[in-house]
Amino acid sequence: MCGIVGAVAQRDVAPILLEGLKRLEYRGYDSAGMLVVTPEHKFSRKRAMGKVAVLGDALSSDPLPGHTGIAHTRWATHGRPSEGNAHPHVCNETIAVVHNGIIENHDALRAQQKELGYRFTSETDTEVIAHQLHHHYSQSHDLLAAVQAAVGDLDGAYALGVVTNSDPERIIVARRGSPLVIGLGVGENFIASDVAALVPVTQQFIFLEDGDIAEIKRDAITIYDHEGHEVTRPVRQSELTADAVERGQYRHYMLKEIFEQPRAVADCLEGRISGDKLLEAAFGHEASEIFDQVQGVHIIACGTSYHAGMVGRYWLESIAGIPCSVEVASEFRYRKPVVRNNSLIVTLSQSGETADTLAGLQEAKRLGFGHSLAICNVPESSLVRESDLTLMTRAGPEIGVASTKAFTTQLVSLLMLVIALGRRNGLDPFVEAKMIQQLEHLPGKIDHVLQLDDRIREIAEGFADKHHTLFLGRGAQYPVAMEGALKLKEISYIHAEAYPAGELKHGPLALVDAEMPVIAVAPNNELLEKLKSNLQEVSARGGELIVFADEHAGVVESENMTVLPVAPTDDCIAPIIFTIPLQLLSYHVAVLKGTDVDQPRNLAKSVTVE
Ligand code: AGP
Repeated sequence: MCGIVGAVAQRDVAPILLEGLKRLEYRGYDSAGMLVVTPEHKFSRKRAMGKVAVLGDALSSDPLPGHTGIAHTRWATHGRPSEGNAHPHVCNETIAVVHNGIIENHDALRAQQKELGYRFTSETDTEVIAHQLHHHYSQSHDLLAAVQAAVGDLDGAYALGVVTNSDPERIIVARRGSPLVIGLGVGENFIASDVAALVPVTQQFIFLEDGDIAEIKRDAITIYDHEGHEVTRPVRQSELTADAVERGQYRHYMLKEIFEQPRAVADCLEGRISGDKLLEAAFGHEASEIFDQVQGVHIIACGTSYHAGMVGRYWLESIAGIPCSVEVASEFRYRKPVVRNNSLIVTLSQSGETADTLAGLQEAKRLGFGHSLAICNVPESSLVRESDLTLMTRAGPEIGVASTKAFTTQLVSLLMLVIALGRRNGLDPFVEAKMIQQLEHLPGKIDHVLQLDDRIREIAEGFADKHHTLFLGRGAQYPVAMEGALKLKEISYIHAEAYPAGELKHGPLALVDAEMPVIAVAPNNELLEKLKSNLQEVSARGGELIVFADEHAGVVESENMTVLPVAPTDDCIAPIIFTIPLQLLSYHVAVLKGTDVDQPRNLAKSVTVE
């Protein structure tokens, strides 16, 4: 999940590459590097530990002139973050490469290369690619042929950008399992891990397919498929604008993205509802025919998207009456599951590039799942391209590593799926109409709950010195509690666990004391009285409770229980509403703790490695 960017132009490319790296930093940010081919046909490279800004500072005092270049921002897999392990990696001052992915047979290749006399200067798997390329290049003296030969020696996943100083106006790229796009300019062309890196210089993109290798020159692009046949791939116009990824008045992207949720939800619904009815063509023109056959749903996803899937299961079974299982993709892909007849595989992903989810989808197809649906935020992503049906969440670019608006729009999308499948299972049109009305009111209700922000900031002050927390919910609010716990741990580094509140007495209650805040979400539903009893169990043991409760739930403040009132909400949208205060809580705790909110340690936004 590193980010790569490259350019062949008639102007100095370093500023383009640096801007691209800044826009790709969400993919990894432990080190960064850039290499250009100088007018004298030499390599000029700069690498720096830490964020892209550090590389930027180094470049401002010592610029890299040159019209062809490649650059990289790293999320360490093989070898710790260090300048020496930062890309680009170079072999014998002849071949340079940037790589996103993992080479699984790097040990075997390293051993062979040492026999051939190659010397290693890093601990990375990428350096073996540079040497392998050099090995083939020294025989063919043709960079394209060298890449075609070298990728045949690699096991694993890669997106590569390769240059040589002896043929300076050319970049060769290859992809298998990791994303890569080509950006088309006028008299200049570009490569990158995603379109966001290149929107300041172009809106036109070609998305390479798995196994493709391409030759990028200033005025020509030639693409070969995995069998070496020349192919054409469609040129697509991106709708992403350069300012869509600006932070504006907000201190952090995460806060901006939390406050964007009313608009994101409205965008997600736009054009997909007519009167009191869902337009199921929103899922694709084949949707009605495919949905007619569906007898069960299996959802796979990772992290926050998995939590959305868990909420989806509660809804699909209780509202649509359709059997549903949900599973983390990294388990599903290796588990050898039994496939039930006419099961729909549903993948949920903000990025659409999560390696485990993509591999899970491929495994599902191999296992014989009838059809696939991707609920995704990135239209150009691999997941979308590889699925039969798609529903775009339309949350807009999400830059903060901690997912917020992507989650709530996934939930909205899942509710649309619930309606579409429920119709075939006797969902009362009156219930559908009521759900649609609730969805239409949702942006306003989110706006309302966002007004708790100041109150939540005050409450966050009680957390900054805590080391552990518990999150509780029941029913569809249990995954909401899980999502709250994930948000808190990933950006504030406070250990947080979520439990279905009824499970507390089976063990975790032993942890409860005054040092362990317990956060609960309490909508006004049929499980409310059960939840209140669970809260009493905490209270009776001296636990400090913070409860986000429906105003009509009758959850009363007491000495060790703080209650934040949430406006009355219909149960079908309550998981969306109750997510918002938990996002704000983790945000304010992280700010108070002084962590890097948008780029928390050890994480990356797009997890394109296994
Ligand atoms: C969310 O806050 C996380 N950063 C992470 O769990 C994320 O949801 C997960 O990696 C899945 O990503 P995806 O939605 O892009 O597939």
